[in-house]
Amino acid sequence: MADGKIHIFDTTLRDGEQVPGCKLNTKEKIELALALENLGVDIIEAGFPISSPGDFESVQEISKVIKNTTVCGLSRAVLKDIESAAAALKHAKRPRIHTGIGTSDFHIKSKFNSTREDILERAAQCVKWAKNFVDDVEFYAEDAGRTENEYLARVVEAVIAAGATVVNIPDTTGYCLPHQYGEKIAYLINNVPNIDKAILSCHCHNDLGLATANSIAGVIAGARQIECTINGLGERAGNTSLEEVVMVLKQHQQTLGFYTGVNTTQLNPMSRLVSDTMRMPVQANKAIVGANAFSHSSGIHQDGFLKDAQTYEIIAPEEVGADGSKIVLTARSGRSALAHRFQKLGHQFNRNDIDVLYTEFLKVADSKKEVEDTDLRELATVYEATVVS
Ligand code: KIV
Ligand code: ZN
Repeated sequence: MADGKIHIFDTTLRDGEQVPGCKLNTKEKIELALALENLGVDIIEAGFPISSPGDFESVQEISKVIKNTTVCGLSRAVLKDIESAAAALKHAKRPRIHTGIGTSDFHIKSKFNSTREDILERAAQCVKWAKNFVDDVEFYAEDAGRTENEYLARVVEAVIAAGATVVNIPDTTGYCLPHQYGEKIAYLINNVPNIDKAILSCHCHNDLGLATANSIAGVIAGARQIECTINGLGERAGNTSLEEVVMVLKQHQQTLGFYTGVNTTQLNPMSRLVSDTMRMPVQANKAIVGANAFSHSSGIHQDGFLKDAQTYEIIAPEEVGADGSKIVLTARSGRSALAHRFQKLGHQFNRNDIDVLYTEFLKVADSKKEVEDTDLRELATVYEATVVS
């Protein structure tokens, strides 16, 4: 198999920051960029320099402090955008300009009131402009998910001929099914003559909850870069979640043969940092980084987990920097979980004790969402007093 390295392109600071309420100032962006470099991502999309003086400054300051990771600035297929991105990236050790244009008929007709031939020319032109400033130019074909494959292949061929090093195939509206997105990537690989001169990139949105599945389908079909955000933040329903794709690739490394440079033990600390800085809570049942990702609540699961953690956990919490597995006591919990928790609190009860205590426990559990240690201590005190007297 060819090299299975998947480049992780983080766009938390650009697409992620587009979420209403998540705007960051330069200081916050620098802190997150340094944490992303430490996490091991390959590319940090630091912002959209032409969009505001504040974003220009953020990209400029991030470019000064990031040492090893590629720093990328977004632009439209417009010369002044590209000049602005190039100026903001001036101090970057590894600068990349990310430029592009909409290629679906929705964009060509409704947004640009244009034609396919004109857009094809503008696509190649913007890459040529960007190449005057940096070697590393990524082109995005916005709404590629709804762009007809034959035309998309012509665009991809033209931008690679113009010097694009990476070609981004965004499913901007999160429309594709995984097999369709995979087929689109495979179509480009099989039909664009100069495709080996560039890397194809997956940029999937989550409108149908398929962003992670689509990105994985894309790399299986031959793409070698995934664009993603911490906690899956992004426009509308969000972007591909970084922690999910990284862990999918790691979990299935044996069969798929892919790997990333991400230090997975930093995933939970990074998720918390982004959530706190952006003031955007993470849903409890979010894969890998949600509060319940390693919680076990029902009796059947708890019993199996206590016998062997792998019965109900495919990832060890420490592998992703989570606090640890949790046995949550609820009215659905069983005797083994109750005995385990009493033991942790220093009470050695035998089977008969637990049978009696379990009846009392259920009365408490039915009256509240979660039984806490204070409830258990109270149950134990009352029981021990009864047994002794
Ligand atoms: O979703 C999208 O198409 C984008 C591009 C600007 C890359 O974010
Ligand atoms: Zn996007």
